[in-house]
Amino acid sequence: MEKSKGREQWGSKLAFILAAAGSAIGLGNIWRFPYLAGENGGAAFLFIYLACILIIGYPLMNTEFAIGRASRKNPIGAFKALAPNTPWWLVGALAVLTPFIILSYYSVVAGWAVAYIFKCLAGLAPTADYTQMFVGHITDVWGPIIWHFIFMALTIVTIAAGVVGGIQKVAKALMPLLFLILIVLVVRGITLPGSGEGLSFYLKPDFSKVDGGTFLDAVGQAFFSLSLGMGAMITYGSYLSKKESITSSTGWVVGLDTLAAFLAGFAIFPAVFVYGFSPSSGAGLAFMTLPAVFANMPAGSIFGALFFLLLSIAALTSAISLLEVVASWVIDEKGWTRKKAALILGALIFVVGLPSTLGYSVMGNIKPLGLDILDFYDFVSNAIFLPLGGILTAIFAAFVWKTKNALQEINEPKGVFSFGNWYTILVGVIIPVVVGIILIAGLYKQFAG
Ligand code: PHE
Repeated sequence: MEKSKGREQWGSKLAFILAAAGSAIGLGNIWRFPYLAGENGGAAFLFIYLACILIIGYPLMNTEFAIGRASRKNPIGAFKALAPNTPWWLVGALAVLTPFIILSYYSVVAGWAVAYIFKCLAGLAPTADYTQMFVGHITDVWGPIIWHFIFMALTIVTIAAGVVGGIQKVAKALMPLLFLILIVLVVRGITLPGSGEGLSFYLKPDFSKVDGGTFLDAVGQAFFSLSLGMGAMITYGSYLSKKESITSSTGWVVGLDTLAAFLAGFAIFPAVFVYGFSPSSGAGLAFMTLPAVFANMPAGSIFGALFFLLLSIAALTSAISLLEVVASWVIDEKGWTRKKAALILGALIFVVGLPSTLGYSVMGNIKPLGLDILDFYDFVSNAIFLPLGGILTAIFAAFVWKTKNALQEINEPKGVFSFGNWYTILVGVIIPVVVGIILIAGLYKQFAG
């Protein structure tokens, strides 16, 4: 039996922090955060975002790690173990379903990023039309499927190699590289002559741009960026030794995630403004605006390739956390070997992702809720499943598992910081209410707004 061999554990606290930071730092940090900040009043947004991280992100991540470590199980097993013979395992089931869906389209976007490393290396010309290039890339049938396949294959191989032999190894090698590339791009950006305009777009506090929508954006981003509300942090916590402090590890993960997001803005905005572009959002910023920006920059092909390498690395370490959640479930509960779990579930996720990529070509006339198929998957998981998972996890910790047990796991051994009884107010009241408002407002915006 798999169980008698004992559960793998991270080799060190550093390995755990890097793996969890790898999950947190992803596509969301590199292109979404900087844009949200620029659009929502710069430093004013940053301030609100930090408040969300402290009040919602930090306590919830501690809670997820604790649920994982206390049960030493995948999300479904964890809820079953902590609340036996109750329907709460369904929250675990949601926490396994969500990463399954997210990975299916996340891998498609990651595949675009990998493809763009090579497009940049092949040379960027200031005269080329990069909007057309991107449209051409995603409306092609086979190209994006092949890159999606390659990216899923990398993810599968990592998970098959194990927690220590795969996830930890990849995180230890790639996370320092990620920060190194980020710093290179930041230095390049802020030393461009005329970088001031982009910096002021990004940072100048403008409280007149702050409205209700700003808070929605900040909470949503905090949630997605920290990989909360689905089983990733529960699963990674299940491999954490009882000797390591949860509160201080969480502090590191949250800090690194915020740092990466903050730095990405310095890498992007000065260059965008210096070369006379306007900052578009989301995929448009990364895949249409930035290639054009790099095409104007000396040695731009290299910097462009570095940027897409950065995106690819960020995406890969997030993707492996997504597949690990799903794999850990069949390994724990169904007794599958790790290799079989990684291969079969990875292949399934690849297939489920196909409509996301074909939605820009042969399935282009299918528009669920008026959205592209990829955006539809994204909407269902991010706007509904993640917040729902977060709310239920918080309520579970406060009222079912009970604060006393949660706190005992979180505060043992003591880190620099420990939670007091006010933890109950955070997870029992504030998080469910605030995230509940976000969930409803997000649905309202989609269906009525
Ligand atoms: N945190 C990742 C990002 O910022 C996305 C992600 C969400 C990864 C949920 C895993 C789980 O892009």
